[in-house]
This record gives sequence, C-alpha cells and structure tokens, in this order.
Amino acid sequence: MSARHFLSLLDFTADELIGVVRRGIELKDLRNRGVVFEPLKNRVLGMIFEKSSTRTRVSFEAGMIQLGGQAIFLSPRDTQLGRGEPIADSAKVLSRMVDAVMIRTHAHDTLTEFAANSRVPLINGLSDESHPCQLLADMQTFIEHRGSIQGKTVAWVGDGFNMCNSYIEAAVQFDFQLRIACPQGYEPDPRFMALGGDRVQIVRDPQAAVSGAHLVTTDVWTSMGQEEETARRLAHFAPYQVTRAMLDLAAPDALFMHCLPAHRGEEISHDLLDDPRSVAWDQAENRLHAQKALLEFIIEPAYHHA
Ligand code: CP
Ligand code: NVA
Repeated sequence: MSARHFLSLLDFTADELIGVVRRGIELKDLRNRGVVFEPLKNRVLGMIFEKSSTRTRVSFEAGMIQLGGQAIFLSPRDTQLGRGEPIADSAKVLSRMVDAVMIRTHAHDTLTEFAANSRVPLINGLSDESHPCQLLADMQTFIEHRGSIQGKTVAWVGDGFNMCNSYIEAAVQFDFQLRIACPQGYEPDPRFMALGGDRVQIVRDPQAAVSGAHLVTTDVWTSMGQEEETARRLAHFAPYQVTRAMLDLAAPDALFMHCLPAHRGEEISHDLLDDPRSVAWDQAENRLHAQKALLEFIIEPAYHHA
C-alpha cells in the first residue's frame, strides 16, 4: 500500500476527515477514562522542525507515547539537513527507519519533495502554505461544543496566510461558509480563493465579516519568517484586532478560536482569551486527540509477534 500523506486537508476525502475528527473525540474520551490504548506499540514518528513549536511538538510527541510508540525530534541544525543533505536523500533514508514523519518547514515544496521520496506517511506540521493538523483540532473543538459545522458561517479576521488557506480547504471539505476579513494586500493566494469558490468571500470590513458568524477566528499578524515586516504589519492590521465588542456582533452562540501562540494587544484584545466564548484552550488540547486519530489512521498496523 502506498503511504497516505497528510500535507493538506484535500489529501483526505470529506468522509475520512470527519472520521478522523470523530475518532479524536473517542480517543479523548478513552484518555479521560484512563484507558490504555497502544495500537502504535513499536512505531516511531520522526519530527523535523525548521521553525519553533510548542503545541505541535508536544502533541505529536505525547500522542505517539500515549499510543504506545515513540517520537524523535530532529532539528535541521543538528542533522545533515542543516549542512545541505538533499531533502530527497533524507526522505529515502529516514523513511527506511521510522514509520511516519512530520515536518514543520517554510517552503511547502520541502513537504512535496519529501513525500515523493518517502516510503512512509508524511504529515504537514505547518508550512508557509497550510496547517492542516490545526484544522483537525479546530473542527473537533467546534463539533464538541456546537455539533456539525456544515452550513455554518466562519469569520476569519486577519492575515490570508497559512492558517487562512487551511480554513479555505476546511470550508470546502466540511462544507461551511467562510468570510475573510484582511487588509488590502494580505489576501490568500488566488489559487486558494479559486479552490474555495462560492464558499469563500473576502469581506473587507471585520465587523461585517463577523456579523452573525458562528465561529470567529484569527492568527498572529506576523508569522514565523516574516519578522522583518513586523512594523508594517502592525500598522496595516491595526483595524483587524478581534475584541469582545466585535464578538458581540457574531451569532449569540458564537465561538472564538485562536491557533496560538497569541499576541494579546495585537490580533486579539488583552481580555479575549478569558471571554466565555473563547475555546482556545480546548482547541489547543485537541491538537493531541485529533493528531492521535490521524496517526492511528495513517500508520500501518503493528507488526505480528515472531
Ligand atoms: N498552533 C500551533 O501550531 O502551535 P505551535 O507553533 O506551538 O506548534
Ligand atoms: N501563521 C502562524 C501559525 C503558527 C502556528 C505562523 O506561520 O507562524
């Protein structure tokens, strides 16, 4: 069987995605009930991080351990990747040793090239193009709190970058309407806008975008790798801060999510994560459960005992 890579939400069918999210809810319940469930005993996940991470690293590492396996953290600085060993060669070698690989990188091409040369599944742990693992957790969180997201309206307020692109893919796969409020010049790549079709709309005014929405979400204004643009971005994004007053315009049962890390006083007001409509901590926790479901789905079943 050829490896099932997860570089984008489009790599799975809508049914497979819903299946993984539902399984995440079940695995969360198992863990809360103290049930030991180790289908990935003897399995190893290699994790390559070209950028910093708290949630992605810890959720994959803890998740593999809880499923009976192990995870290995690989920094390009300490491996031959940092000294120029080609990504294709690294993929060929690593995929003969581990059972799945997760990569957090800048260039999305790094992922596609690794996947093309890997015998084992590759997971996108964030690229400059998308963050599909975060969307598994976000969808799980919405479903846990409010039920199906199908037909609902989601307001994305902020940068049309990697997280926003994954929200567009989610709108297609989970069948919801997405309004994107971003400053001029920070729209998602036209390729993603075309993919979203009539499910996705740019609504320049953040108040109008949030009006009546069932989920409001945002992300940092300056993503990893854009640090030299910080001053310009602070000026351009200033009208796009999500506040309690802005959330008041949303549906009465609206939820607020943030993939984190958050910059209070920039993309959100200081008090927003303390608002009862914010489910950001559940959302962060669900990275663990949703990704355990993903790992269970894509890693081949365990070896037979000799
Ligand atoms: N949301 C997210 O991916 O967080 P980390 O950068 O901490 O992994
Ligand atoms: N857009 C952010 C997401 C971090 C999880 C970044 O790329 O830095």
